[in-house]
Amino acid sequence: MAQVVVIGSGIAGLFAALRLDKAGHEVTIITKQRPKDSSTNWAQGGIAGILDKTDGEGKQAHIADTLAAGDGLCNEEVVRLVVEEAGDRIRDLLDAGVEFEKEGESFHLVKEGGHTARRILHAKDATGAEIERALTRAVSASKRITMRPHTLGVDLIQREHRNPKMGIKGLWCLSLDSGKMEAIPADAILIATGGCGQLWERTTNPSVATGDGLAMAVRAGAASKDMAFFQFHPTALMANNKKPFLITEALRGEGGVLLDSLGLQKYRMSGSKPDSFSFTLEFSSKGSLATRDIVARACDQKMKITGADNVWLVTDHLDNVNLHKNFPTIESRLNKLGLSLGKDPLPVAPAAHYMVGGLDVDTDGRVLMEDGNAMPGLYAIGEVACTGMHGANRLASNSLLEAVVFANKASEHFIENSIENIENVPNWRAEGMQELEEHAPLVRDLETLRKTMTDDVGIVRSFRRLERAKRMLDLLSHEVDLIWHRSLPTRELVELRNLILVATHITEDALERKENKGLHWNKDLI
Ligand code: SIN
Repeated sequence: MAQVVVIGSGIAGLFAALRLDKAGHEVTIITKQRPKDSSTNWAQGGIAGILDKTDGEGKQAHIADTLAAGDGLCNEEVVRLVVEEAGDRIRDLLDAGVEFEKEGESFHLVKEGGHTARRILHAKDATGAEIERALTRAVSASKRITMRPHTLGVDLIQREHRNPKMGIKGLWCLSLDSGKMEAIPADAILIATGGCGQLWERTTNPSVATGDGLAMAVRAGAASKDMAFFQFHPTALMANNKKPFLITEALRGEGGVLLDSLGLQKYRMSGSKPDSFSFTLEFSSKGSLATRDIVARACDQKMKITGADNVWLVTDHLDNVNLHKNFPTIESRLNKLGLSLGKDPLPVAPAAHYMVGGLDVDTDGRVLMEDGNAMPGLYAIGEVACTGMHGANRLASNSLLEAVVFANKASEHFIENSIENIENVPNWRAEGMQELEEHAPLVRDLETLRKTMTDDVGIVRSFRRLERAKRMLDLLSHEVDLIWHRSLPTRELVELRNLILVATHITEDALERKENKGLHWNKDLI
C-alpha cells in the first residue's frame, strides 16, 4: 500500500487521513504542535450546507449567496460542486461522530453575514472544536494512521532536483522535540497547513498559522493564486488587546448590531432597537449582516475617522436565554474579562482571519505549477488551497465545507491513481551549518514584518503603501536568507522565512491588481 504524508491536523488533514486509511493506505500526519492546535479547533460559527439532496431551491440559494459574496471572481463550477456535495460530506462528519446542535429531530441552523437563509449547522459556538474532537478520536482509533506532533515540515523533496514536473518524493521536517532534521519519504503529500494570519498584528488565528505549507510548495515550484484576497473578520474582541478573541458572526446572525460611540449614545437615549443607529448602514442596506469584506471595511473606516480603537457590538436587545444557550464559549470568555453577554456593549475590531487565496489547485485538489499542469504527488486542501470557491471574498462558514469536500476529492484522486514509488530521500544538508546563536534579530524582523503588513497591506491599501511594503519585504527576505544559508533550522527561523515569502506573494498580487474586488481595496483604484 502507498505511503502518504498529510501535513496539518485541522479538518482537511484529518478528514483526508481517514479517507485514505479506509482505502488501506498508510498515512503519517505531521503537525507542528498538538493535533488540536489548528484553526479548525478555533472555528466558532459552523459549516454551511444543504443536507437534503432534493432541496434544489435551497442549494440554488446557497450557490447564489456564495457567488454574490465572491464579487464575480468565484469559479462557478467549483461552487456548484461543493454545494452539491455538502449533504454527503456533512453526513460523513456525522458518521465520524461529530455532534451538531439539534432542535427536535432536525438540526438547529444559524445564519451569518451574506447568507439569505439559515443554513449553517453548528455545535453551539464551538463548531470547530467539536469537529476536531470527533476526527482526532477517529484518527487515533486507526492502526494505519500515525500522528506525529511537534513536527514542522520544512521543505518538500523533489524527485529530480529543481524539476517540479517530476513531482515530489518526500519532505524534510524538523522535530521540535529533538531539534533534529529528518527526511520522510512519501508516495504523495497532502498539504493541509491552513493559513497565515500571524502575518498581521491582530489575528483570530492560532500561533501555528504561519503559511508553512504554502511557502514550501511555492519553493518547490507550485503556483499561488488570488493572494491579495485576505479576509479580516469584523468582530474580534479587543477587551484584551494582546490576544483578540473571535466573536462569531452568528451573534450578528441572531441580531447583534455594530455601533460606533456616537451610535451607542443615540441608541441608549432612544429606548428603541439599535439597528437604525448602525454606521454599517452607510455601507450596505444589510447593515451589520452585510458580507464580511463590507462590514470589516466599514469598521476600519469608522475607527480611522473617529480615532477609536474599536467599535461596539451590542446584544442587550436580544433574548438572553437564547444567547446563554447558543454562545456559552463567548459568554464564559466575556465573563472572565468582566463583561456580560446580553448586557454590555462589546469592544470589537477587525482582525486577520482567513486566507482566501492560496496554492492554485484543480478540482481534484492537485497542486498546479505556473504552466497550469499538476505537480505529481502533491495535493493541497483546506485554507492553504485556492480552489476558486470563495472568489474575492469567502462567505462565512463555507470554509469547513470546502475543506471536507476537497479533502475527499484529493483522497479519492490519489486512491484511484495511487502510485507506490517510494525512493530513497537525501538527508538535510547540514555540513557547514552553525547552531543559531541569537534569535533576537529574528524576533525583531518578525515584529517589523507584522507592522509592515498591518500598516501597509491591511484592509484599505494604496499603491504607495504596497510599494513601501514590497521594499521592506525584499530587505527582510535578504536578511533572513543570509541567516538561513549558514544556520541549522529552528522553528522561529523556518516560520519567519515562510511568513516573508507568503507576505511577498500577497503584496505582489495586490500591486498587480487594477480593480477593487471583494477583499482587495486599494483607494487609488476607487
Ligand atoms: C465566525 O464564526 O464568525 C467565523 C466563521 C467563519 O469564518 O466562517
